Amino acid sequence: MSSNLQPSVCGSESQVIQHVVSGRTQVLGVFGHPVEHSVSPCMHNAAAAALGLDWVYVPFPVRPEALCRALKALPALGIRGVNLTIPHKLAAVDAMDCLAPSAAALGAVNTVRVTDGLLEGHNTDPAGFMAPLVAAGFPAAGASAVVLGAGGAARSVAWALASAGASVIVANRTVGRAASLAADINAAVAMPVVSSMGVSDESALCAAVAGASLLVNTTPAGMHPNVTGLPPAPLSALHAGLLVYDLVYRPRRTRLLAAAEAAGCAVLDGLPMLAHQGAESFRIWTDVAPPVGVMLSAAESFLQAAG
Ligand SMILES: NC(=O)c1ccc[n+]([C@@H]2O[C@H](COP(=O)([O-])OP(=O)(O)OC[C@H]3O[C@@H](n4cnc5c(N)ncnc54)[C@H](OP(=O)(O)O)[C@@H]3O)[C@@H](O)[C@H]2O)c1
Repeated sequence: MSSNLQPSVCGSESQVIQHVVSGRTQVLGVFGHPVEHSVSPCMHNAAAAALGLDWVYVPFPVRPEALCRALKALPALGIRGVNLTIPHKLAAVDAMDCLAPSAAALGAVNTVRVTDGLLEGHNTDPAGFMAPLVAAGFPAAGASAVVLGAGGAARSVAWALASAGASVIVANRTVGRAASLAADINAAVAMPVVSSMGVSDESALCAAVAGASLLVNTTPAGMHPNVTGLPPAPLSALHAGLLVYDLVYRPRRTRLLAAAEAAGCAVLDGLPMLAHQGAESFRIWTDVAPPVGVMLSAAESFLQAAG
């Protein structure tokens, strides 16, 4: 790579990061399709700059049919690792030489590390989800959690909570999908602690939330641009002993979180999880403690600039 001044605009004008790319620069990136709206380049380049590391993180628009070839090319290109985003997380599993426990349990890879020419698959979403809960002092062991949604994010959340000793009810619009998720996670943890239900059974969902200490929204309801959306949460069952954790991060204060605060609940939004899952990837690649606060601020500025 020739020496070149590479300005990377991250959020506002005041956060332009300039990095001199040379033949010694270590390259990271993200494979996605589409990838142009990814927050990750901003977070990782800000982290590398804050630590004075000669690393650069590049978005690669990789089509689904090219994923396998792109992954196999990583060692030859000397690329140290990549994140995988939509639509690659499941398809990448078979291309890995080995899987970390999180990626094996979830059947999904969001972080690839290249080590001695081999591809290691990791999934940092569960750690990213748990870190803000731990920071908030939430005792996951023995907790009762209700998880709304049964997609990829719900799998990470249910596995993380079940592994930490919580019991979990997965409530979804398509009940069969919730049942499959529960069966898969129960098969991957020591004790079967995940059950499932449909969100259309309103009285059962109310009772579940009334008896829970944690409610997690993993549906996209309320996410930009449909910010008036509400996930299928029974608002009448919200109570002061409940922590409501919305994985949506754009906007940070969703309608669900506003209703939860009005009901006296503690709340967590999705941006710290976004920063922590990225931070965990950064640590896996660099073996350096990531500057999570820098990554969170960079993501926040990027999203504010995006409107
Ligand atoms: N904060 C973070 O770091 C982070 C990380 C990952 C994901 N997320 C967020 O989590 C959300 C879900 O991501 P995902 O990858 O899990 O998506 P996904 O695989 O498409 O799953 C979405 C789930 O939400 C349900 N759903 C969708 N729209 C709904 C609605 N209007 N009402 C009720 N249920 C609805 C779907 O139900 P059906 O099964 O019935 O279709 C499905 O179970 C997104 O907003 C994403 O941005 C945040």
